[in-house]
Amino acid sequence: VGEGDEPRRLRRAALLAALSGSQPLRRDEIELPGAGERIAVLRPAEFDRLLDAAAADPEQNLPYWAEIWPSGVALAATVAREGEQFAGATVLELGCGLGVTAIAALRAGADLLVTDYAADALALCALNALDVTGTEPRAVLLNWRAAGSVAGLAARGPFATVLAADVLYEMRDLNPLLAVVEQVVAPGGELWLAEPRRVPAALFVETLVVRGWRGPTEVCAGPWPDPEDTRTGVVVNVHRLRRPTA
Ligand SMILES: C[S@@+](CC[C@H](N)C(=O)[O-])C[C@H]1O[C@@H](n2cnc3c(N)ncnc32)[C@H](O)[C@@H]1O
Repeated sequence: VGEGDEPRRLRRAALLAALSGSQPLRRDEIELPGAGERIAVLRPAEFDRLLDAAAADPEQNLPYWAEIWPSGVALAATVAREGEQFAGATVLELGCGLGVTAIAALRAGADLLVTDYAADALALCALNALDVTGTEPRAVLLNWRAAGSVAGLAARGPFATVLAADVLYEMRDLNPLLAVVEQVVAPGGELWLAEPRRVPAALFVETLVVRGWRGPTEVCAGPWPDPEDTRTGVVVNVHRLRRPTA
């Protein structure tokens, strides 16, 4: 933050104060594969402590928002390379986490609305976006398993482009997310979904294809920020699925 940039300094301080339960933070530099771009993000340094705290949650909502995931990186790289349609477009992201993909969308010129069910994810996404791009996305706290809040989101749409990275790792999310995309993606609009080849994601994509959604899938094999992901051969599918117009 430059000297004299008082509103931004104050906003940063407010976002950091909102994150008291997730501190201390660490800073990571991420290379976007094939895009020739880097993104730096702050994230909680003590993931295991957040995991222990989540053990008491009756919903078993795990703090995966606090990690850097290959899918978010792969989707950010795709947006950085091929995101011409984002300039000036209203874009929605489901499950934004730390904001890696959000930052790429903002850099590409999107008018971005991010959602997550973790308030700290929205605060860190805002902080990371502010630090990298000088702007923040609009943000809505949303659990896609709660029909009422999805209806509120749908009322803000429909959206010509919806982003989602690594949101299908539990079977309980399959039907809620199918319902969400049917409500928020505009007819003829696109869902850009990155997923590291888990069963719920495969079923999700198969179901949309049966319903007439079509589009290319690119494969991204890294390299990833965590060398262990590269060593173990994590591969991410990036789908661009267009919703049928009728
Ligand atoms: C594996 S993380 C991926 C985060 C980010 N998209 C990325 O790729 O770096 C899954 C994200 O989805 C969010 N999430 C999981 N279940 C959710 C739900 N039911 N409603 C809203 N967000 C949810 C998590 O908080 C987390 O940010």
